[in-house]
Amino acid sequence: MTKLSLDRILQSQGFGTRNYCRELVAEGAVSIAGNVVTDYRNKIATDGLRFTLFDTEWIYREHLYIALNKPVDFECSRKPSHHPGVLSLLPEQFSWRDVQPVGRLDHDTTGLLLMSDDGAFIHAQSSPRRHVPKIYVATTHAPVTDILIAAMLGGVKLHDEPAQLRAVTCRKIDEYRLEIVLEQGKYHQVKRMLAAAGNHCTALQRTAIGALTLDALGLAVGAWCYLDAGQMALLRESAVAG
Ligand code: URA
Repeated sequence: MTKLSLDRILQSQGFGTRNYCRELVAEGAVSIAGNVVTDYRNKIATDGLRFTLFDTEWIYREHLYIALNKPVDFECSRKPSHHPGVLSLLPEQFSWRDVQPVGRLDHDTTGLLLMSDDGAFIHAQSSPRRHVPKIYVATTHAPVTDILIAAMLGGVKLHDEPAQLRAVTCRKIDEYRLEIVLEQGKYHQVKRMLAAAGNHCTALQRTAIGALTLDALGLAVGAWCYLDAGQMALLRESAVAG
């Protein structure tokens, strides 16, 4: 069982520098199980620890695993230039923990985005060797045709890509919408594939990563949640190296 002093605990959770966290404790801002703790030096077990900081309760988390329903006009970049960054949709202290998006969605793409501060998790989910399937719903400018679906499944050649890229599955939802499953995550891949296949993507939503679906998460646009053990297991099963 890991035990840490309260200043280290607060710092590890992103609440500021060690000195600042000591000040928070000294001024009585932190309580555990209803008791204000003013001495930062006592070692506290971190497993299942709940603490209150300025009236908000937090659970100690060694790492953060988050799902966000990304709205349009937010950038995944850590240094956003034209729109706010997705980190601005999360509590401020998460950015102090080096939380980053797992892969990227374009600023105008909506839907499921994972975020974490665990490098091994980010690598496992985004490594091309793991073939994690990602499901997208694309709205098209021109009606969806059998020829378009055949091209997406048969493979299209993109500028700068040595080999043809193909969708794992591609099915028509209605006249102007397609569900596309990809195992790679190349730059603007859905939009570029649709353009190379003779259509144009006017809206794009990611609806699932592996077996984790946006529907099951039930997140409103712009909302986020911590991933629970069952959801993490779904992601791990989807990220088996192949
Ligand atoms: N493909 C795209 O074109 N854009 C995204 O954001 C994701 C996949």
